[in-house]
Amino acid sequence: MNNNLKAYTDKYIANRQLCWEMDQQVMVDLSFSKWKEALISRSEMMRKIFLENEQFLADIRKELKVEITEEKAEQFLEILHSFYDGGYDDLFIMRAIAEPLLPYYEEKNDYPKILFLRKVLAFEYYEFYWRLSREDGIEKALELYEKTVAMKEHYAELKDASDRRAIFVCYRNMVAIIADCKAGYRYQDRMFKYLNDAMTFWSSDLVQKLDGDNAEFIEHMDRMETDVLLSIDLQADMDEDFVDEYKALVKRIKENREKDGVEDEEGVLFRTDIMCRLLDKAPPRKLIEEMIDHISTIGELDTTKENDALQKLLDYHNSGCTIFDIYKFAKLPQEEIAEYNKRFIPQITNVHTRIPFGFWTGLIDNVCAEWFSVVAPYDQIPSRKAEMLLKLVLGRQPITYIHSLMVGEIATRIVIAFIKENPEFFLGVPGLGDLQQIKDGMYEISDYVTKCALLHDCGKCEIVEVVNRQHRHLYDEEFDVIKMHPDKGYEMLKDDPGFEKYFDVIRGHHRSYDGKTGYPSSFNNLSSPYKPIIDLITVADCVDAATDILGRNYVKGKDFTTVYDELKLGSGTLYNPEIVDMIGNNKSLFEDLKYLTSEGRYEVYYRAYREIVLR
Ligand SMILES: [Fe+2]
Ligand SMILES: [Fe+2]
Repeated sequence: MNNNLKAYTDKYIANRQLCWEMDQQVMVDLSFSKWKEALISRSEMMRKIFLENEQFLADIRKELKVEITEEKAEQFLEILHSFYDGGYDDLFIMRAIAEPLLPYYEEKNDYPKILFLRKVLAFEYYEFYWRLSREDGIEKALELYEKTVAMKEHYAELKDASDRRAIFVCYRNMVAIIADCKAGYRYQDRMFKYLNDAMTFWSSDLVQKLDGDNAEFIEHMDRMETDVLLSIDLQADMDEDFVDEYKALVKRIKENREKDGVEDEEGVLFRTDIMCRLLDKAPPRKLIEEMIDHISTIGELDTTKENDALQKLLDYHNSGCTIFDIYKFAKLPQEEIAEYNKRFIPQITNVHTRIPFGFWTGLIDNVCAEWFSVVAPYDQIPSRKAEMLLKLVLGRQPITYIHSLMVGEIATRIVIAFIKENPEFFLGVPGLGDLQQIKDGMYEISDYVTKCALLHDCGKCEIVEVVNRQHRHLYDEEFDVIKMHPDKGYEMLKDDPGFEKYFDVIRGHHRSYDGKTGYPSSFNNLSSPYKPIIDLITVADCVDAATDILGRNYVKGKDFTTVYDELKLGSGTLYNPEIVDMIGNNKSLFEDLKYLTSEGRYEVYYRAYREIVLR
């Protein structure tokens, strides 16, 4: 066994903490020069961390290739413990360690260790796949959890209460998986099945005798019930049996809360009560009025009081979502919906928009993105909707946001050169039918291209944990996930005609100029009327990616002259030759881009950071 492995693990974990701290250092209100210093030292540090971590991973792989001895297995188990207990969710690293260990302990019938390994694997599968809504990954996680909870037959042999509790933790996670994958009604039956299985096992003599009065177990079981309650999407055509189970659950939770004197956190019971009455055919308009009244009583958010502010935000958010549920359930007419919307959407959107960056980061990002996706279909004004997308979704992802701003800066400089020297370039793009219109439309075209740039990677906001993974190389499967971002972005906006003029750029910016390579192969960029705009964003995208100092930490950004040589090499195949020539032949454009992608980059970054930090 490599004695350094433990030291490496500690270093790996410390590096992760360091990455987080470095991120925070540039996220404060600093003068330009101080901030620039912090950014440069962050980039240097990240490059160093990247190389250290790569060495660590190479060592792990080497160790796992040779036969596993007892001592080695124990050491790897310890590594897994420190990762898992520290909330370090990294499917690919955890899987690389856990998978070879599992058969080793299965052979020995070492139940606590088997239970732990299965639990870790199931959870990591779930963590990686749930955001992608990839059903095969979610099924795999559920399958692993099923195998893990099946270990309840060895319950009495699990000496440690925390090992026994793990069985119930797994049940609760199974419920969460179904709730999060949003696969719809057909899964909801399974949610009750898991809940009922867990409850039956919990009330068995064996479990009650061993753990029946353990407060941690009791709280866990209570929370599992609430999880189920919150996860159910009520629909007008649900089976009666299901409705009965739902109502019985609400009643049980209410009684338990009243018995224990627990407050109605986040207004959960208030909302479920409304939904129960809706199921009992109470007039929907009355329920909506009650919800709007409830929203008006939630009050101001004070983000210095973290928990209180979070609860209030969730109350606002979920109350708004409940009203949307009532609309759908009661099939209210559009005109009436529009009137109700005016009375609560602006307020709730405003609450989401004002949440400072860094406040419960992962959770709030999801909540804001969800609010955008539920509100957007009701908003008829495209510009307001785009603004909302920027504030609620893109503006909360610094890496993607800054990259998109840079792509916009690069692309608009090229646009201006074309309008001056070769306006024919844009002819035929929808809305740009004649030359005079193009020559007079510098402002409109630049504005449109800037928005294209801001939106081109919006699909990345759904896969942030992979996009933001900068401390080690990406595995093939993670690259596959990254490659989903054009489709994800299109999926996000496709039902919205207000965004139509951006669709082809979102879908086509990773296709090659000649249409022969790139992704997604399902999109044909050659037949798009927006082809010149797509080509422009493709070039700007590549220029920013190659000269970047933020995203790709293991290499220093290249200088613009080198990047231009690469553009020339790909001219006519990867890149539109007219654009490559324009950059090469227009001296002031060339110099402008050279500055923008080196020193000028800091100015754009600084502006973006301030926008994010001082929101
Ligand atoms: Fe992209
Ligand atoms: Fe991009």
